Amino acid sequence: MKNELSVVVAAGSNWGIGYKGTQNLVISEDRKHFREVTGHGTVIVGRRTLLDFPGGRPLKNRRNIVLTRDSGFAVEGADVAHSVEAALELVSDGDPEGVFVCGGASVYRAFLPWCKRAFVTRIDAAPPADVFFPKLDRMPEWRLADPGEELESGGIKYRFQVWERVK
Ligand SMILES: NC(=O)c1ccc[n+]([C@@H]2O[C@H](COP(=O)([O-])OP(=O)(O)OC[C@H]3O[C@@H](n4cnc5c(N)ncnc54)[C@H](OP(=O)(O)O)[C@@H]3O)[C@@H](O)[C@H]2O)c1
Repeated sequence: MKNELSVVVAAGSNWGIGYKGTQNLVISEDRKHFREVTGHGTVIVGRRTLLDFPGGRPLKNRRNIVLTRDSGFAVEGADVAHSVEAALELVSDGDPEGVFVCGGASVYRAFLPWCKRAFVTRIDAAPPADVFFPKLDRMPEWRLADPGEELESGGIKYRFQVWERVK
């Protein structure tokens, strides 16, 4: 693949990322960060995460690839892939603006082995969660390349971290 894949995720201190189909932690500054990181690149998301986007619509100004096993699924403004391999094939020519794996939990798990970098908004809170991101801090193949400075929003502390695959 010409372009390495990256992950973009917001995770709590226990690596929780969602609850009952939606994000369990939302920091408004993180929305802007997400837009800045993904820019005009390609985003890969699972069908359930697409449902959680505003209006259930693909993200504007980016190429959207939606994962589903439903062969009849179609949505305007997105390419559809029925397997990890099919999605990787769709991005095999790369994207000069980057290719970003944007969740949810099952898609993060499936694509992490192909990802070189992870942009993690690490939030110092752990509200109820029923889906989790893999615990990068317990995976020897990942290292915290940039811990980010401590920021605060509405009394909640968070950092924009960058993790890199080392092997
Ligand atoms: N905090 C964050 O940064 C963040 C980001 C994104 C999402 N989330 C949260 O994550 C949760 C959703 O995660 P989730 O794991 O339940 O759902 P998901 O990963 O968004 O979507 C799951 C669906 O994707 C399709 N899929 C997954 N793997 C596939 C594969 N290998 N081949 C073909 N299709 C595949 C299937 O769709 P079909 O059922 O149609 O076959 C599956 O049901 C929500 O709570 C959401 O808010 C959090």
